[in-house]
Amino acid sequence: MSIGRQRQNAIYSAGVFGRTPAVPTDFAELERRAKKAMGQRAWAYIGGGAGEGTTMEANRAAFDRWSIVPRVLRDVSQRNLSVELFGKTLAAPVLFSPVGAGELAQRDSDLLIGAAAAELGVPYILSNQGCSPMEETAAAMEAVREGAPRWFQLYWSTDDALVESLVRRAEECGADALVVTLDTTMLGWRPQDLNLGSLPFARGEGIAQYTSDPRFQQIVTERVAESAGTQAGPRPRVTAAAVAALVSMARHLPGGTWANLRSPIPRASVETFLDIYSRPSLNWDDIAGLCARTSLPVVLKGILHPDDARRAVDLGVDGILVSNHGGRQIDRSVASLDALVDIVDAVRGRAKVLLDSGIRTGADAYIALALGADAVCIGRPHMYGLAIAGQTGAREAVANIIAELDLTLGLSGQTDVADLTREMLRRRD
Ligand code: FNR
Ligand code: LAC
Repeated sequence: MSIGRQRQNAIYSAGVFGRTPAVPTDFAELERRAKKAMGQRAWAYIGGGAGEGTTMEANRAAFDRWSIVPRVLRDVSQRNLSVELFGKTLAAPVLFSPVGAGELAQRDSDLLIGAAAAELGVPYILSNQGCSPMEETAAAMEAVREGAPRWFQLYWSTDDALVESLVRRAEECGADALVVTLDTTMLGWRPQDLNLGSLPFARGEGIAQYTSDPRFQQIVTERVAESAGTQAGPRPRVTAAAVAALVSMARHLPGGTWANLRSPIPRASVETFLDIYSRPSLNWDDIAGLCARTSLPVVLKGILHPDDARRAVDLGVDGILVSNHGGRQIDRSVASLDALVDIVDAVRGRAKVLLDSGIRTGADAYIALALGADAVCIGRPHMYGLAIAGQTGAREAVANIIAELDLTLGLSGQTDVADLTREMLRRRD
């Protein structure tokens, strides 16, 4: 039976016994329930966006400009959703976007999201701001499915040796691709977080790839040794919030919390991270160098202009991820979907094109695929599922999108996601 029908059947059969799905099957209710399940800081960081939130709105409005034009009487009994990306066959053209500091929603976020993606047979893009070392997330995924597809997302720090170390680790833990995020050389202006004075990383949340890294540890040790002899500045006033932050830092570092509380390392690690994240001078030469140095396919995330896409492909990158970071970086940015068509035309099949930002349903995924994306990535929906019901929630949030994609495919008279073209859509005035 097809993926979509299986999912409907599972839900309706459980319903006969009075059980309803762990996570709501529509986005509005999913978001409402997730907000309720999260604390204020978590909601600000995960649900929030840049500035007045207009990019987040634009991402959704862009989908409203397209309609699907169904065809009938075409035998849609057998359907294929699977696609091949960078040497792996994926169950569907859907990936879990990288998310940093996911533990704000649920402890062990990366292990749970990774396991959920592995259950579905689609990749999780492990974030450079993850909450577990990438080796542990990879192992959790491997435990669910041998060879579970996983990619690694890189933030380029100011320390090139650290970048090198992260890339080597990604290669060694079986990443299928390296995603370099280009739109976050600085964090965007995020009023929800700013109004709470809340940055997860400043409390040690979302810096596990760094604190587990030998090169990062070396930098921290050197900094601690250097500052040991120097006069410390005026001691900050001890407040409840400051103590909570220190405990949080200690809890997030490798080693025991008590030992860490007496050590200068946790605070130095957070300060070091804040100093070296990330590198605004990043440029095309760095990407060319990276492509030459890694054995992994390189995907550039955060491209919105066709000229940048063309240049990237000329450099030899393997994939473009059209994204505005879910509206978290620039307010009043062009919507990802609005940027897609020109980029697909510029790339002309020379690299894979993926899209994220604003995908909420299977019908949204259908539209992006029909406009030329090879696959789509899902951000907040899986985080919301995670907040509501852990691994099951993250899995169901994305399983629902895949199920609706399958049903929409068949109901519109199509049998293979690879066959979707602009002909299946009409632009609304
Ligand atoms: C993100 N995103 C992100 N991207 C990235 O490259 N590295 C990261 O560490 C993070 N962290 C992160 C945290 C949270 C809480 C969110 C919501 C998003 C952006 C993410 O990969 C993706 O581009 C967007 O989430 C996609 O948009 P939607 O699906 O959330 O609208
Ligand atoms: C964010 C960064 C970590 O969006 O990518 O919060």
